Amino acid sequence: MSLTRRVAIAAALAAPLSFAQAQAQTTITVQHPLPLASHYGAGATAFKEALERATGGRYRVNIQRNDNEREAIESVQIGTIECSLTSTGPVGNFVPEVRNFDVPFLFRDTAHARGVLDGEIGQQMLSRFTARGLVGVVWMENGFRHLTNSRREVNAPADIRGLKVRTMENQVHMRAFTQLGALPTPMAFSELVPALQQGTVDGQENPIAVILANNLNQVQRFLTLTGHVYSPAILICNPALFARMNAADRAAFNEAARAGAAANRAKNSADEAAGVEELRRRGMTVVTQVDSAAFQTALAPGAAQIEQQLDSALLRRIREWR
Ligand code: PAF
Repeated sequence: MSLTRRVAIAAALAAPLSFAQAQAQTTITVQHPLPLASHYGAGATAFKEALERATGGRYRVNIQRNDNEREAIESVQIGTIECSLTSTGPVGNFVPEVRNFDVPFLFRDTAHARGVLDGEIGQQMLSRFTARGLVGVVWMENGFRHLTNSRREVNAPADIRGLKVRTMENQVHMRAFTQLGALPTPMAFSELVPALQQGTVDGQENPIAVILANNLNQVQRFLTLTGHVYSPAILICNPALFARMNAADRAAFNEAARAGAAANRAKNSADEAAGVEELRRRGMTVVTQVDSAAFQTALAPGAAQIEQQLDSALLRRIREWR
């Protein structure tokens, strides 16, 4: 018998439990598109710590960055990675019903969005993922999206006319920017900074937390707090992961996912509270007084067209949610 094998057997006999545990370890890869210091990083890290603690290390979480969200979801669907924490931006291409959540000015404020997502409507939407070969685990948060650009201060809807704006690969958002007279250019987030540097696009739209974490102030001078759409985030996993789990581990997984959501939202709230001042400090010109009603009016014809293709009863339920 080789020395290595004898050492392994001796180690197993001396500590049979930890050896068995090491043998049974499962690694879960979670990809997300932002730096670890971001609100997504906070969510993924809290999830990792909670799950590893609750399962005594039998589950390990490997956090990876992939700033192409569509590609990450595809990898989850075919099973090359277990999970992805993603905005809903490209999710409608996999689970079309989710597009309802991407309608501009649908959510009044953060409390409204979180209440809907955590309540019956959000839970029903999570159950829609099953038919598409995915598991929607928990809603997290990207945040209210705001417009940045390198050309001019945007004070009114008319100022958006003619701007080339990068949007997510999301039909609802693209239609909205077309209605505002912009030239929407859908692309993965991974392509955004080079596109801004090369002038392929003039602007983009994202929550404060994303602008901060990615230093978009280095490539964008003007920020307007349009808050034109709430951007949910979601932890999506491959169903095979759960097929192998017993009930206790599944409960620990769900609890850890909720801890991740709480940490993600807390970090997003903190970034939203301090972010505008920080971005001004970094040199951005920020328009904070925005006539939201004017933007909604300018969007109205496009919004009506968008909503014809969506679930009007669901949109009414969301709007009437108190
Ligand atoms: O703009 C996007 O693509 C998304 O908001 C981002 C930055 C990848 C976070 O989900």
